[in-house]
Amino acid sequence: MQKRVIRRLDLELFLSQIEPHPSPSPGLEQYTIDVSTATTMLYIAAYNYGDIIGKSVLDLGCGTGRLALGAAFLGAKQVVGLDIDSIAIKLAFKNSVKASLREKLQLITADIDVIHGNFDTVLQNPPFGVQKRKADCRFLEKALEVGKHVYSLHKSLQKNRSYVKTLKANKVLITSPSPFFESFVRRCGGEIKAVYAMVMEIPHMFSFHKKVRHEFAVDLYVIEKTNL
Ligand SMILES: C[S@@+](CC[C@H](N)C(=O)[O-])C[C@H]1O[C@@H](n2cnc3c(N)ncnc32)[C@H](O)[C@@H]1O
Repeated sequence: MQKRVIRRLDLELFLSQIEPHPSPSPGLEQYTIDVSTATTMLYIAAYNYGDIIGKSVLDLGCGTGRLALGAAFLGAKQVVGLDIDSIAIKLAFKNSVKASLREKLQLITADIDVIHGNFDTVLQNPPFGVQKRKADCRFLEKALEVGKHVYSLHKSLQKNRSYVKTLKANKVLITSPSPFFESFVRRCGGEIKAVYAMVMEIPHMFSFHKKVRHEFAVDLYVIEKTNL
């Protein structure tokens, strides 16, 4: 089991070598999580809450494996990554071989509906539901069905520039849950423990992106299942 705390810089270096999706589909909202957001999310899960090291971890909608492999790198016992897209899964496989973490990672090409079982921790950067309404809710529901501790990224309702600027300056801020997610999570048998706001940066990927880099506020929901 990984005992030593991995430095943030080492985790960032590791994650920067995980190749992003070469041909992302807008319909599946296939943007790869940026290195800084992935590092913050994994750090919070591993070192603020103790939910990675020695744990079974599921990455729902794993894409090319940044969160899944980051969890394996930090010392998860076993990691499962699942994605509906076979190109993403093939690249996640390649990334796991390159990172010498192949034996820790099980990869599945499938819709999230097919996964059953019990995981200590679920990490997810789901589609935000911009293209397909409520895609994020489907992911949350599934995460709470199979996981005890859920770390889920969602687009913030706060969109103004000054909020994004303040977040960028502070890196991470504690914020409040949206009333919608609060009641949705409760209905799914979970309880929100904390919400961390941060800025996500994605490169120009889709034709509807107007800038070279797109920056927006996201909220990391830390959720615990209460009806075990
Ligand atoms: C925002 S991307 C995140 C990818 C990766 N987790 C990351 O953070 O870099 C969302 C991922 O969910 C996958 N996805 C979308 N709908 C899905 C579904 N119904 N079942 C499984 N995966 C799905 C997409 O293919 C995509 O890789």
